[in-house]
Amino acid sequence: MAATMIKVAALSGSLRKASYHSGLIRAAIELSKGSIEGIEIEFIDISNLPMLNTDLENNGTYPPLVEAFRFKILQADSVLFASPEYNYSVTALLKNAIDWASRPPNVWAGKAAAIVSAGADFGGGRSHYHLRQVGVYIDLHFINKPEFFLKVIVPPAKFNDDGDLIDEEAKDKLKQVLLSLKAFTLKLQGKN
Ligand SMILES: Cc1cc2nc3c(=O)[nH]c(=O)nc-3n(C[C@H](O)[C@H](O)[C@H](O)COP(=O)(O)O)c2cc1C
Repeated sequence: MAATMIKVAALSGSLRKASYHSGLIRAAIELSKGSIEGIEIEFIDISNLPMLNTDLENNGTYPPLVEAFRFKILQADSVLFASPEYNYSVTALLKNAIDWASRPPNVWAGKAAAIVSAGADFGGGRSHYHLRQVGVYIDLHFINKPEFFLKVIVPPAKFNDDGDLIDEEAKDKLKQVLLSLKAFTLKLQGKN
């Protein structure tokens, strides 16, 4: 029998062309097409969403780009956040997308989620704990383990100049995150 396929919406909190976080998502997509079965990951572009302004809402409808984004989240079984740490928190880009999808009806509700990050001394880790706190209110269910904080300042290089993940140990850790997310998603849905 074919394995159950879960759909994961992946969001990067950085706009940089050679973003490490977008690179983490590309690596996750590559893993999902190779060494992990039953998981389909889509990179969801949040770069063109307007800044949240409830004046843009019209009788419970949203601007077309926002509607399209909300629909992508609604359709997903779970969410992968690649969350850079800006001043000990999540980036404005990511928070803006989170806020749009939280407007009624909150399309995050009940989904499983995971966070990955790359950064300096804590590998971007502080953003995780702010994101987890936001998740309480919007009813996201984050996997607890493994936590993925990639310290880019510690040699060897983790990314190439294009922002592609080149570190095998990190790729393996990322794979463990995806396996955990898949198992937790199926558990939440009562499928395992
Ligand atoms: C405004 C700003 C604030 C930042 N604050 C932190 C921080 O608090 N902790 C940290 O480890 N790195 C911090 N950084 C560094 C970023 O986390 C780092 O550049 C990371 O690579 C950004 O992700 P990206 O490569 O996907 O763009 C900050 C960068 C910017 C631009």
